[in-house]
Amino acid sequence: MDTQAVQPAILLEGLRKTYGTGPAAVEALKGVDMAVYPGEVVGLIGPSGSGKTTLLKCLGAVIEPTAGRITLGGEVIYEHGWKIRDLRALRRDRIGFIFQAPYLIPFLNATDNVALLPMLAGVSNAHARQRALEMLTALDVAHRGAAQVAELSGGEQQRVSIARALANKPPIILADEPTAPLDSQRALTVVTILNQLAREYRTAIIVVTHDEKIIPTFKRIYHIRDGRTVEQQGEGREVVAAANA
Ligand SMILES: Nc1ncnc2c1ncn2[C@@H]1O[C@H](COP(=O)(O)OP(=O)(O)OP(=O)(O)O)[C@@H](O)[C@H]1O
Ligand SMILES: [Mg+2]
Repeated sequence: MDTQAVQPAILLEGLRKTYGTGPAAVEALKGVDMAVYPGEVVGLIGPSGSGKTTLLKCLGAVIEPTAGRITLGGEVIYEHGWKIRDLRALRRDRIGFIFQAPYLIPFLNATDNVALLPMLAGVSNAHARQRALEMLTALDVAHRGAAQVAELSGGEQQRVSIARALANKPPIILADEPTAPLDSQRALTVVTILNQLAREYRTAIIVVTHDEKIIPTFKRIYHIRDGRTVEQQGEGREVVAAANA
């Protein structure tokens, strides 16, 4: 990729995060540099406690970094404090989160779980449902749209939660062990979908994973160890899973 001409969707420079103060302080990130370009799916790999979730949370404005700079789509959002006032709008409109557990709202059906975010962003109910259906179709769970969360299988719930992360078509998706609860076929399906998204919508995607099955699919990997990152070429192997597995 010609990275010269394209602005990174995500740029982290010298990012630090220390939890607590004094002798009990934990330096979780000690100066992380990272750049992810539109249309890229990048792996973030490292041992337990190395700072992966902390990094995603800083990036997603869920927790405040201690130092460094975060630039999203050319706009500095953090540098000695948040540079934008409405962090909720940032999270809602620009970032999709996919977690290890689906965290769906149990009293809403699948469609409404996905439609909720666009509705919160001010999209009309009818339009939000239509968009939800579009996303559920892309993830091949539209036929379960009217089902309650408890009636869905684990893999279906995860696909609904991915549809929800995509519903506002955010330029950035942060996925923390998205395939952990899935069997290998479904794990590869999720990776297939993320790659399709990156291609079609130019989404920049970071996937935290321990999953040996999906690591060979990344073209670029950041290894994180002891709060610092090292970049590495990945194998970038084609994913062969059927998208509707
Ligand atoms: N809220 C917190 N308060 C204090 N320390 C924390 C907090 N959250 C995380 N830590 C510490 O920060 C370090 C990084 O944690 P983090 O959750 O980012 O690791 P991780 O790479 O996501 O690990 P895992 O693979 O187990 O999910 C760890 O030492 C952890 O104990
Ligand atoms: Mg973690």
